Amino acid sequence: MLTPTDIIRLDGGTIVLLDQTRLPQARVERRCGTVPELIDAIRVLAIRGAPALGVAGAMGVSLAAEQAPSAPAAFRRAVTADAAQIAAARPTAVNLAVGVRHALEAAAGQWDDPPAARAALAAAARAFHADEVRRCEQIGVHGAALFGEGARICTICNAGALATGGYGTALGVIRSVHAAGRLDGVIVPETRPLLQGARLTAWELGQDGIPHRVVPDGAVAGLFARGAIDGVVVGADRIAANGDTANKVGTYALAVLAHHHGVPFHVAAPWTTIDLETPDGAAIPIEERGRDELGDTVPSGSPVWNPAFDVTPAALIDSIITESGCMRAPFDLRA
Ligand code: MRU
Repeated sequence: MLTPTDIIRLDGGTIVLLDQTRLPQARVERRCGTVPELIDAIRVLAIRGAPALGVAGAMGVSLAAEQAPSAPAAFRRAVTADAAQIAAARPTAVNLAVGVRHALEAAAGQWDDPPAARAALAAAARAFHADEVRRCEQIGVHGAALFGEGARICTICNAGALATGGYGTALGVIRSVHAAGRLDGVIVPETRPLLQGARLTAWELGQDGIPHRVVPDGAVAGLFARGAIDGVVVGADRIAANGDTANKVGTYALAVLAHHHGVPFHVAAPWTTIDLETPDGAAIPIEERGRDELGDTVPSGSPVWNPAFDVTPAALIDSIITESGCMRAPFDLRA
């Protein structure tokens, strides 16, 4: 399995990340030595997945501090301005802003001493990364209990080590079911248009020897109808206070199918993905991405519409698995 520092790490004044746009063909590191380079890596999805974006956000504030001028007032101004830009690099995964905020809190009280603030920010970013991995391991422990012998589990996109900085949320649950000897196999929809399922989830599962089959997105409904799926577990980019969940586009369709076929549908995410300030799914910003992602087979005269995420209403979710345990519907996450 990938180690957390294989996925993203602070290396002196640079962030080094495994370039996920190059997987599975090539395992190439991408070095971000400036804040604009990090923002570009986030926008092109070289680093992606909500918890991993949170880690990138926290490390990004540390990077900003390394680059900022040393006079205290200018230092604080530069770091906070860069932090705001990093937090806004992608809108849907709340973890990005959470990671940035977490790092800024570590610098509180140290703004007058830039060397001390730099040291505190680097330590906070590394600790945040280690904590996210531990949270995913706990999610795996709690979620595994939801699946019985011979489980055939469907997941979407990539909610594995790559998306979380280590271990994974939905894939963390699947890893734990596999370790317990109860996994028959994983159904992995390709996850168009960027194929995070076919490229990244399949690669991770293959690396770990976990049985899986990649299927065209359009095949999933028929597989439910044939009784080939016992349960669904997905990650999340943002969970609103009422349990409505934004995740990779196509997740809502999976939830509707699961409901129609009487198959349990679970969401796995750390508390850093739960946004109690967003009351419901209607208030979650959905990222719209470019036409280039749909490829050059679309006639140039045809407009495209490419939302990267959709919202699954809480009513279609059986449980939300976090590091503190499994919450069952109906959800009131503020309680
Ligand atoms: O656009 P991406 O690849 O960053 O989207 C990531 C997802 O939607 C994942 O499915 C996910 O569950 C969130 S990260 C565990």
